[in-house]
Amino acid sequence: MIFDQDGQNRYNNLMNSGPNSLLCPSPGHLPEVAKQLLQAAGDRRKFCLSGDLGAGKTALVTALVKALGSRDQVSSPTFALVQDYISADQSPRTIHHIDAYRLEDLDEALDIGILDYLDDDSWTFIEWPDILESVLPQRRLDLEIRILPDSTREIVFLKR
Ligand SMILES: Nc1ncnc2c1ncn2[C@@H]1O[C@H](COP(=O)(O)OP(=O)(O)O)[C@@H](O)[C@H]1O
Ligand SMILES: [Mg+2]
Repeated sequence: MIFDQDGQNRYNNLMNSGPNSLLCPSPGHLPEVAKQLLQAAGDRRKFCLSGDLGAGKTALVTALVKALGSRDQVSSPTFALVQDYISADQSPRTIHHIDAYRLEDLDEALDIGILDYLDDDSWTFIEWPDILESVLPQRRLDLEIRILPDSTREIVFLKR
């Protein structure tokens, strides 16, 4: 787990603001944040990323994909809905990146075959997951990125 028993973060450069979040003070901290999130996920491979436009969802996915050993270029799949990347050294090797921002409704997602992406055991990072809520796998990690006044990002583990 990312937090020691006394609630102290064991990494000096990332002070946690509470037991259910971690802080990303700058984009330069994203590699470390990604590593910690993958540890915190345990055996969960589906991550939902909520947060305002510009909060840092795609930036975090980029860091996660890199942390999973992929050298693929990550870009926002806003127009494609889904993009796949391949990890060089992690199993499973396939990483799905879903961005549901432009979806009108769930039917549109189902027409594109979204269930195929959600039901397999690949790593899957989902931006704007709300419209997909009813078809998301139960076993997942829900994260919300909040922008603090000094532009630090707080990454909150949401409870369901
Ligand atoms: N502390 C921080 N952590 C992560 N990203 C940050 C931070 N401060 C500024 N940023 C910047 O915020 C932007 C977030 O953009 P993006 O990831 O596309 O957001 P979203 O996908 O949520 O719309 C990036 O340009 C990133 O470099
Ligand atoms: Mg984005």
